[in-house]
Amino acid sequence: MLLLKQSADLINYLEKQHSKGFSVGFLPTMGALHLGHISLVEKAKKSCDVVVCSIFVNPTQFNNPTDLAKYPRPFSKDVEMLISAECDVLFHPEVGEMYFEHEVPKQINLAGLAKVYEGFYRPGHFDGVVTIVSKLLEIVNPNELFIGQKDLQQCAVINKLVLEKGFKSSVVICPTVREKDGLALSSRNLLLSDNERTAALKISKALFFIKEEIQNYSLDELLFKAQDILIDDLITIEYIDVVNRNTFIKSSSVTDNGKAVVVAVFCGKVRLIDNLFLD
Ligand code: PAF
Repeated sequence: MLLLKQSADLINYLEKQHSKGFSVGFLPTMGALHLGHISLVEKAKKSCDVVVCSIFVNPTQFNNPTDLAKYPRPFSKDVEMLISAECDVLFHPEVGEMYFEHEVPKQINLAGLAKVYEGFYRPGHFDGVVTIVSKLLEIVNPNELFIGQKDLQQCAVINKLVLEKGFKSSVVICPTVREKDGLALSSRNLLLSDNERTAALKISKALFFIKEEIQNYSLDELLFKAQDILIDDLITIEYIDVVNRNTFIKSSSVTDNGKAVVVAVFCGKVRLIDNLFLD
């Protein structure tokens, strides 16, 4: 696997690949890789000739400096995992390579998307995501961009970004990978204590309850019962709601099309999000 730290080197390498007619698949990450990320590499390898992964802990998308400082960075393990998955290129820039000093994150017209749910609880988060993903897409210019359903609102934001800015990449949203007990794989799981991890199992329980019981209760009843499942000394709920998965507008009934149930909680001091498609 080629390890590159300078965008000019990556651009140069990829120009050669494009000129040979090779297609490029790209997965942007912040490292602390898990099998969810590796499933993206595998998917990218099936449909593209060259697979590029980036690892960059993007400071502008953290609205909380402690969260940024605590973000896990097991770089050598990440490299080993990418080599085993036969990823072709790892792009691992320094902050100074991606940002000018005092650069302010870009804003694009995300309509209501940036203001609700994750946008509401993490002000400025999506400006940071949009800024870094635009920069990465400009550098990599992939044929296909692979992202995980686990960050569902981010998927909607990136879809909108690609459309608004006319990037040529197709966005491929890959299903969330779960532990056998239902916990969605997340880099943040590394920060959970044993007790917090046990409490965190209530998140997927609440989501699957809604999916399984959708025909049997009204939307309000479903959400009320799901909140009941989440009750735990270690859990603080930020939101649990049923939304349209592209617009993040709250669903008013269980029969709307394109619905997802989305949830965010603090489990101890660790913030976790998850979601399920309901159709
Ligand atoms: O999902 C992530 O890991 C990040 O938000 C992303 C897309 C790599 C942008 O920093």
